[in-house]
Amino acid sequence: MNANPRPDGPLWLLAELTYRCPLHCVFCYNPVDYMRQQSEMSTAEWKETMRQSRALGAVQLGFSGGEPLLRDDLEELVAYGHELGFYTNLITSGIGLKPARLEALKAAGLDHIQVSFQDATQAANDALSDTKTFQKKLEIVQAVKAAGWPMVLNVVLHKLNLDHIDAIIELAEKLGVEYLELANTQYYGWAYQNKATLIPTHEQLKHAEERVAAWREKLGNTMKLLFVVPDYFEKTPKPCMNGWAKVFLSIAPDGTALPCQAARMLPGFEFPNVKTHRIEHIWFKSDAFQRYRGDSWMKDPCRTCPDKEKDYGGCRCQAYLITGEAENADPVCHKSPHHDKVVEFVNKAQHHAQQHECKGSNQPDYFKVQKPEHQAQALTTAQPIVWYRNDSNSLHLSPIDK
Ligand code: FES
Repeated sequence: MNANPRPDGPLWLLAELTYRCPLHCVFCYNPVDYMRQQSEMSTAEWKETMRQSRALGAVQLGFSGGEPLLRDDLEELVAYGHELGFYTNLITSGIGLKPARLEALKAAGLDHIQVSFQDATQAANDALSDTKTFQKKLEIVQAVKAAGWPMVLNVVLHKLNLDHIDAIIELAEKLGVEYLELANTQYYGWAYQNKATLIPTHEQLKHAEERVAAWREKLGNTMKLLFVVPDYFEKTPKPCMNGWAKVFLSIAPDGTALPCQAARMLPGFEFPNVKTHRIEHIWFKSDAFQRYRGDSWMKDPCRTCPDKEKDYGGCRCQAYLITGEAENADPVCHKSPHHDKVVEFVNKAQHHAQQHECKGSNQPDYFKVQKPEHQAQALTTAQPIVWYRNDSNSLHLSPIDK
């Protein structure tokens, strides 16, 4: 009997086709320094990546970015994925989804589209993305529905929009959404940079959870609501990616292969590239994919924890961002010696909210960094800062800016 059976191949292939994006969302999970990684693989290179992944057993293929619609070859890639037998999913802001492209994607065999909104009103949606896109998104959602796909809407939740939960669900209902994903912010990339502004209060979360439960009763099966509590408010970590290099393979625009989208900021790694290595080698042999696979890498408290089979030690990226070492237990876990850091982030958010109440204001109060001249001013402001995801800010941020 083989004591170390070969692990299974990847099931999920995420093709991050580009880091380019017409939106500037404050919670974007792309690397904050994406401007330093601007090269993109060719159509042929993406096809070869898909072919090799499918041969290893991958069945789900997600196209994301950035905004994948900015790639002119999206339809060709979808058609190829479909031909290979993948279940194909497009994760998009919807901007650029003109009727002709919708038709072409339908003809290419695209199985699933997920469109994102930032909030329920034009003012809030457009402020969070620093664009004028709300009206366009409304039209796009209707066009997607008319083309016969189930309507899947994604709204990332945080302090600045959680209080609009009723309006968000009402909007989804009006649009005939079948599946509404209310995804509380995960603090990576730009969201980590902006966490002081985005972490909600306990009251906000409790209220939102209650409203979602009430809406579920009211809506029955007409619309499914998924509400995921933000990590920082939990006491046990999430089984991130279902375990490092267990089912998930993410390919960055330049061909860098990653066990999760956020991992490229981890120091001490040489992530392999699909342009120079075969997927089979990357998945089974590369140090980057093997390093945190299984549990032999774990230190205490994970090593001796009975839950390690369920949570795999949590998230390596979160462990690095908050504790400085990816091997540490995810500090979301109450057993982690660094758990107090997560508690401190959450407490700061409560404190800031209380200060607002004292001032009699319920308007969010933060300093916006949208243009280069704001970057210098941001250093001196006493307010929480929000960095908009844009090229200029990206050039000035490094992945370890905390
Ligand atoms: Fe990278 Fe969790 S986001 S391991």
